Amino acid sequence: MMRLDKYISGTGLMSRKECAKAVKKGRITINGIPATRPETKIREGQDEIALDGQIIPYMEYTYIMLNKPEGYVSSTDDPSAPTVLDLVDERYSRMGLFPCGRLDRDTTGLLILTDNGPLAHRLLSPKYHCEKTYLASLAFILDDETVNKVETGVVLDGKITKPAKIEILGPTQVNITLTEGRYHQVKRMFEAVGNKVLKLKRICFASIPLDPSLESGEWRLLTADETDILEAAPDKAKGEN
Ligand code: URA
Repeated sequence: MMRLDKYISGTGLMSRKECAKAVKKGRITINGIPATRPETKIREGQDEIALDGQIIPYMEYTYIMLNKPEGYVSSTDDPSAPTVLDLVDERYSRMGLFPCGRLDRDTTGLLILTDNGPLAHRLLSPKYHCEKTYLASLAFILDDETVNKVETGVVLDGKITKPAKIEILGPTQVNITLTEGRYHQVKRMFEAVGNKVLKLKRICFASIPLDPSLESGEWRLLTADETDILEAAPDKAKGEN
């Protein structure tokens, strides 16, 4: 059981305050009957809640797609720098959302924020081969040998990296797809072959591409289809450690 206003605000459609106003105006129904109080207890997943006649499906978890700008740290709290949570609506930061994985402070692009701890844990576990694609701008021109070395694996901290895929976009620009998430991995992989990453942007995470309509610093909720992809990703990507 859950309060009606919590159910509705949890979907991101409106705040609790706005929900109270909508209830007053008779815009919200519970199983077809106009709600009279925002604090009414409902059975989430069983009762049919609608706003202006449109059913609001139950969402157990919240997922946000953020186009992270430079200068923000991927954590929920940092005394010395703004965090990615500072970029989203306050009502979401209050909901206990956290970033699913980390991008360096100077890395931009796709970051998922969620309150689904078990899923984030599975997606980030090295047991699962969750694909992440980065657009990397490099300091030096790439040759076939370097590409081959990065794709087959380089040694970082005494351990060889898992096979990566590189798509050449230009003499100093590539898309690189990894299935691991080691510390500064892309930067250190290119450093290991004598190159240097000048700019890094994540453009895809677990088969979900960054929405090109999101400007730097903008965010939106994941669509139902994207949520399905994300929630299915660990099973599909399951493999050996
Ligand atoms: N690899 C890096 O080097 N940095 C990131 O932020 C992500 C992957």
